[in-house]
Amino acid sequence: MSARRKLIAGNWKMNGLKADGLALASDLAGRLKGAGPVAFDMLVCPPFPLLFPVGEAITDSPLALGGQDCAPKTSGAHTGDVAPTMLTDAGCRYVILGHSERRADHGESDAVVKAKAAAALAEGLVAIICVGETEAQRDAGQADAVVAGQLAGSIPEGATADNTVIAYEPVWAIGTGKTATPGDVKAMHAHIRAELDGRIADAAKVRILYGGSVKPGNAAELMAVENVDGALVGGASLKAEDFWGIASAC
Ligand code: G3P
Repeated sequence: MSARRKLIAGNWKMNGLKADGLALASDLAGRLKGAGPVAFDMLVCPPFPLLFPVGEAITDSPLALGGQDCAPKTSGAHTGDVAPTMLTDAGCRYVILGHSERRADHGESDAVVKAKAAAALAEGLVAIICVGETEAQRDAGQADAVVAGQLAGSIPEGATADNTVIAYEPVWAIGTGKTATPGDVKAMHAHIRAELDGRIADAAKVRILYGGSVKPGNAAELMAVENVDGALVGGASLKAEDFWGIASAC
């Protein structure tokens, strides 16, 4: 059975102003501190403007901080971009890369994701590399091939089980309330695990998260699936009670 410690990650996306973000993060930090030993790591990924205030608010807690993206460069004339060094400066230990919303909204190719991940690893961040098929690709029987291609194109040299996490997020399950069935999740996570062999050192130890309409009501069933090593949560991560309920299912 997996010895991989579960990671419950909250992707706040483009949500939250300072007061609400601080209240949410402080609530989660307090729950973690009060819970004693738990069977999971917990991570919040606020929008960029909230990284410093949230990072300062959770400094003394086991709650980890992450960014939702980073540039493939460390500094320079790149208006609007955020360098990996700026994420670590704010206290980030993780960064989400290649999320389907960035691949779609910003035309991020596998090569761009790979370059960003390489810069993140060079800065000592843990890269959470997102992969996942669209409904049309699944309906056409292309899901495995699409995900295999994204893994092949997005994972940089130097990726290990310690500095890289994979998040499988079927695009059709994100924000829709439609969750992949445990059977589909089991099949795809097994496929991803097999594809990681040879691409990431210690592939068997790489954490593979599921994301796509994870809620307190379905978390226990999903977290019990083989090769599911946690969740990447969107909407439900914006409410402390719901996000804690998902983590408590581990
Ligand atoms: O990155 C996590 C996100 O894409 C999942 O969103 O709202 O379906 O949990 P949601």
